[in-house]
Amino acid sequence: MPTTKSGSSSRAGKTKSANGSKEKPSNGETLKHEQGSEQENSQLEKLFTDSLKDIYWAEKQLTKTLPKMKKAATTDELKSAIEEHLAQTEGHVKRLEQVFDMCGKKVQAKKCDAMEGLIKEGDSIVEETEDGSMTRDAGIIMAAQKVEHYEIATYGSLVQIAKTLGMNDAANVLHLTLDEEKQADEKLTEVAEWHVNQAAEKEAINN
Ligand SMILES: [Fe+2]
Ligand SMILES: [Fe+2]
Repeated sequence: MPTTKSGSSSRAGKTKSANGSKEKPSNGETLKHEQGSEQENSQLEKLFTDSLKDIYWAEKQLTKTLPKMKKAATTDELKSAIEEHLAQTEGHVKRLEQVFDMCGKKVQAKKCDAMEGLIKEGDSIVEETEDGSMTRDAGIIMAAQKVEHYEIATYGSLVQIAKTLGMNDAANVLHLTLDEEKQADEKLTEVAEWHVNQAAEKEAINN
């Protein structure tokens, strides 16, 4: 089964022009296309661009969703973890715009069905849990971690594909976001373990 990772290292660092010949990179090692051109050199490059559009839509949606999650949360610890990640998420949007630019692509969003589903699931958890309860926080953490894991999978793949395509500068920028998604995931685990789950376990069902 082919993977995105195998054989990538041998090509990392190379730059190619549209016809496959070498060209002088104008921005570090980053592959440059005609500004705004949607022309792709390969199916893998098309997959890369489509996935960038997808995660760009997702990140923009999250900048609207995270404030709602923060408002719905019970504990100060979870509220501040969400607030911290909201600031990072705004940075992720900007980094993606930078990556589009580095690749010579138009900044474009494409609806991400997976993220839409994960956000809907988060909304249902808030609706189905009591306001002010620790169980609500446990549910929000679960929903938020599903989002983080989706982002980790996406950025992890994008970093490897960027390397394979010789877009090392883009890979480095995407890697910064990947690290922040992992940190956010760990932070949520910490909040669950230290501040939420045990208190939630004591909550009775009130009908
Ligand atoms: Fe993000
Ligand atoms: Fe995130």
